[in-house]
This record gives sequence, C-alpha cells and structure tokens, in this order.
Amino acid sequence: MPTQKNLQTLRTIAELRAWSRVQRSEGRSVGLVPTMGALHNGHRSLLERAVAAGDAVVASIFVNPTQFGPKEDFASYPRRFEADCALLRAAGAEAVFAPAVEEMYPEGASTYVDVGALSERLDGLTRAGHFRGVATVVSKLLIAAEPNHAYFGQKDAAQVAVLRKLVRDLGFGTELVVCPIVREADGLALSSRNAYLSARERQQALVLSSAIHMVEKLVAEGQRSAKVLVAAARAAIAREPEVEAEYVTAVDWATLLPVEEAAPGTLFAVAARVGSTRLIDNTIL
Ligand code: PAJ
Repeated sequence: MPTQKNLQTLRTIAELRAWSRVQRSEGRSVGLVPTMGALHNGHRSLLERAVAAGDAVVASIFVNPTQFGPKEDFASYPRRFEADCALLRAAGAEAVFAPAVEEMYPEGASTYVDVGALSERLDGLTRAGHFRGVATVVSKLLIAAEPNHAYFGQKDAAQVAVLRKLVRDLGFGTELVVCPIVREADGLALSSRNAYLSARERQQALVLSSAIHMVEKLVAEGQRSAKVLVAAARAAIAREPEVEAEYVTAVDWATLLPVEEAAPGTLFAVAARVGSTRLIDNTIL
C-alpha cells in the first residue's frame, strides 16, 4: 500500500499550472492521469503506474462535454467526486484537477484541436466529433500541467492512437505511457459505463471479452487472416442476439486503417451495444 498523501483539490487552470511548477521546481517529475471520474481499478492501475514511476501524480476529473454527441450520455454520466477522491488518495495521487465546464471552455470558446482523418476511424466513425473533443481537452490539460508523463489505458486504443499523433504533431514535451486493460475476474473490461448494465446485460456483455480472447487464441495457433479473425469474433458476438456489434476490426494501431494480415502490433478492436450501453474492448496482437 502506498502511503497516503494529502490530496490537493485544484479548480482552475492557473492552480494546476502553479502546482505543477512547484513540483518541478522541487526536482520532481509530474505525472498526469486524465479521467472523467467514476473511478475504478482500471483508472487505479494508471495512477499506480505513475506513482511507481516516482511522479508527483495529478489526476484530472472532468466530464468533457465536447467529446459527447448530442444523443450521448453527457448528462447521465456517473459523477461521484467524493468516492473518486478516496480512490485517488489510496492510490497515492497528490492532486486532483476538477474544473468547472466554464473553466475549461470559457464563454465563447471556439478553438479546437483536430488530428484529421484518424479521428474519423473506429469510434470516430459513429461518434462524430468525439476525438476532436478528446484531442482538445487533452491539449488543454497538457498545456496547463506540462507533465513529464501522461498515462492512458489501452482500453481506449483508438484514443491512444489519436493522442500519440496529437503529441507528435504539436510537439508536446510529454511522454505518453500506455497501460494494459484491467478486467473483472470473468473477463469484462472495466469501464465507468459498466454501471449502466442490468444484471442480464452484464452477463451478455461477456461476449466482447470472449470474442477478444478467441481472436488471441486463433492468432496463437497461427491464424493471420484478418478476414478469418473478424468473422470468428463476429460469430462469437452474434451468440448473444441482444448484443449489437458496431465495429469488429483488425487495424494498424498507428493509422487505424484495416490490415489484411495480423502482424505484431496489430490492434484488434470491437465496439458493441449491450442494450443502450456502448462498450468497447480490444487486444494488441
Ligand atoms: P475515462 O473513460 O475516464 O478513462 C480515463 C483513462 O482510464 C483512459 O486513459 C482509459 O483508457 C483508462 N481506462 C479506462 N478503463 C480502463 C481499463 N479497464 N483498463 C485500463 N485503463 C482503463 O478516456 C477518458 O476518460 C477521456 O476520453 C479522457 C482521456 C479523460 C479525455 O476526456
């Protein structure tokens, strides 16, 4: 167990910038863990990785309106600040940046960060504007905190591709650290949106991780054809008629473009609706 440190609450960009500068002036590296809150053990793994790296760790908790579509769950997204702070303390974070919407998007704000074609692939295909919102808010966080490291989960693999491109294209001095997917004992990838699932849907949702697991097994047995792998995963998901696949695809992790043959580093990713909840899962082959 890491020793619990005081958790400072920062509400403004100026406070975040000042906190970060103090850490660096004391010779420490700063680790930023961006989140939308409703923290679970997936988030915790990023925090622990940052603490283990010796960083002064700041987590952001901000349900970012610009990455939600008009029909998406911005209003109902779970918000539980007190419980989140308890998890942050237990994981060894030293500060939480929890700004109001008007702080991140001052009245009349019209400047966005758009990484281009990448943002229209995978989740970007059905969630128009989603990655523009993610790239914009993460840019604002990186500009304010100037972290040495920023931690992200492989769980959102397309987001990782977008953010790697963003950091490279804009020349941010932050190193992105990508952490493995944390799963429940039965395989379901942890997600704040799992809270939306009924008991029945929670059971049905297991077809996502079992499809991913099946693909890993086929690849281990020597199967390389993306077509075969996609068909096998689709068939696995179709075993739950109430789960509706959105994308099932093998892509290059950098370009998010489909590949014909799975190679080391290929991203195999699925997105599906379980009832009204959209879930994603993936593996890097
Ligand atoms: P959020 O969904 O809260 O996720 C915050 C971070 O936790 C992301 O990097 C995500 O990939 C990681 N994460 C979520 N579930 C995980 C799991 N089961 N295993 C490992 N890591 C996991 O992603 C966002 O927020 C937002 O888009 C954000 C980057 C904060 C920008 O608003």
